[in-house]
Amino acid sequence: MAPPMTQALPALPAVDEHHVNRRRYPDGVVFMDGQYLPMSEAKISVLDWGFLHSDATYDTVHVWNGRFFRLDLHLDRFFGGMERLRMKLPYDRENIASILNNCVALSGHRSAYVEMICTRGSSPTFSRDPRQAENRFIAFAVPFGSVANKEQLERGLHVAISETVRIPPKSVDPAIKNYHWLDLVKGLFDAYDMGAETALILDTNGHIAEGPGFNVFVVKDGSLRTPAFGVLPGITRRTVFDLCAEIGLSATAVDVSCAEIKAADEVFITSTAGGIMPVTRIDDTAIANGLVGSITRRLMDLYWQKHDEPAWSTAIVYP
Ligand SMILES: Cc1ncc(COP(=O)(O)O)c(C=O)c1O
Repeated sequence: MAPPMTQALPALPAVDEHHVNRRRYPDGVVFMDGQYLPMSEAKISVLDWGFLHSDATYDTVHVWNGRFFRLDLHLDRFFGGMERLRMKLPYDRENIASILNNCVALSGHRSAYVEMICTRGSSPTFSRDPRQAENRFIAFAVPFGSVANKEQLERGLHVAISETVRIPPKSVDPAIKNYHWLDLVKGLFDAYDMGAETALILDTNGHIAEGPGFNVFVVKDGSLRTPAFGVLPGITRRTVFDLCAEIGLSATAVDVSCAEIKAADEVFITSTAGGIMPVTRIDDTAIANGLVGSITRRLMDLYWQKHDEPAWSTAIVYP
């Protein structure tokens, strides 16, 4: 009988002691586990429920010319989200405001995108019971970013309406700012396939809901309307209501249909990442004459003016 063939087993790879990270990071400062660190050092465990299950809430506030814009409203929304998700942190509102200030001051940025995050974390015993998880807080400041670039802000964005439906409010409360973005990302790919620059997706009744990181407004006969149902109550959206009240324009939150948005006189989107941003084309339809409208321009100017006013903004304490 022939002897059995011996087959050499492939050698197992070595287990390294430390991770070698070759990615690039934006210039910024992060706070986590009681330390301030460069962005490249901000790491969470792959076992964190925030990563594994999107079990997290967050908020983003921006800094413009060395001042936070409407920080109190962002903190209200962040603490409201944590309460509804039954998350607890060892930091109160003042602690978090001061951590955010420190991240910006240490980064040196005069204009910044500042994010505060609370994840479910994980339990020390790896229990599957979320009540046993140690919730985790992370905050960071990186350079200011915008949904629309300079050229798009001047000529207006080209948006496509995707048939993707935003996750229903009965599944995930949209007032809790969250990372359930698979619908929004699918919408974005649909929009790219249609030759557009960004997307709007629908609510469960087929009306317009919101887009990846923004709310939307239509202007018709001098009045403004924005979707009421199934959307994040954006702070920039709220700011548009406040500005309209100040200058005597009517603004209401109601259902907005696809036909209505295409027949609007003006359309714009709103986000902390960019402010008020004009839309001049939806699918194949030019909005009115295809140029940025006068109400949009007026609101954009007023929005940025408010960034220097102490009633609307808070100065960063730099060293
Ligand atoms: C889904 C969604 N809608 C709307 C917005 C706009 O909200 P805000 O004006 O508070 O930035 C965001 C912001 O990230 C968002 O993620």
